[in-house]
Amino acid sequence: MFVVAHISDLHFNGTRYNRSRIEATLDYIHARAKGINALLVTGDITDEGSEAEYREAYGTLYSPLPMLITAGNHDHRAHFNAALLGMESSAPVNRAELIDGVLFVVCDSSIPGRNDGHLSDETLRWMSEQITHAGPTVPVLVAFHHPPVTLGMYFMDSIRQTGEERLAALVTEHPNIVGFVCGHAHTPAVTTFAGRPLAIAPGVASTLNLPFEGTEIINRGQPPGLAFHFLHGLDDGRDAWRMITHYRAVMF
Ligand SMILES: [Fe+2]
Ligand SMILES: [Fe+2]
Repeated sequence: MFVVAHISDLHFNGTRYNRSRIEATLDYIHARAKGINALLVTGDITDEGSEAEYREAYGTLYSPLPMLITAGNHDHRAHFNAALLGMESSAPVNRAELIDGVLFVVCDSSIPGRNDGHLSDETLRWMSEQITHAGPTVPVLVAFHHPPVTLGMYFMDSIRQTGEERLAALVTEHPNIVGFVCGHAHTPAVTTFAGRPLAIAPGVASTLNLPFEGTEIINRGQPPGLAFHFLHGLDDGRDAWRMITHYRAVMF
């Protein structure tokens, strides 16, 4: 069984409140690191993209696990790349890595200066090349920040990822894509996209209200949370895989 711990929407903002939510979530994962293969962080690392927020993130966001990380709409690519990846670059934060036989294709759906999301044609080409290079029998997990579907949340639905038909075409081309995971919506949720599971990580910094939960955007009573995605090879001789998502709330 392959296990990935998935967190999202940390929103480092210099406050002790956000930092303690992030630290408690990382502590929960790291106390169980022996059973986990990788840690995935799907964007909105900082709240305003400032260099000071990235310095705070650099000092707190580390892991004994292989860590894959990308950017969200609250991030600033140049500051992100400089502080967290040690690179001078404003390029999209895209990374592919084979970990214990699973290919992670982690890509940047942010659009500089905007809150909604879109994968560039260049990023989609890069994704396809990475999956082709790994080979057709390698299970692939695709991760980004913005959900490519509506979730029944009015505000979030207006700033989702668009142009998603090009992403769906990637599944036709590469049926070894097992599932999609993302963040941005600050709510643990599961749906489907292009015939594959799509699991949204809870927000570490906050949870957003559903339309009938309250008139404020943020649901202030909810604790931080995380997802554990299991990738399970089906023993039926077809090289088929299944993604199973478990969610946890974290006390802090
Ligand atoms: Fe966020
Ligand atoms: Fe976001």
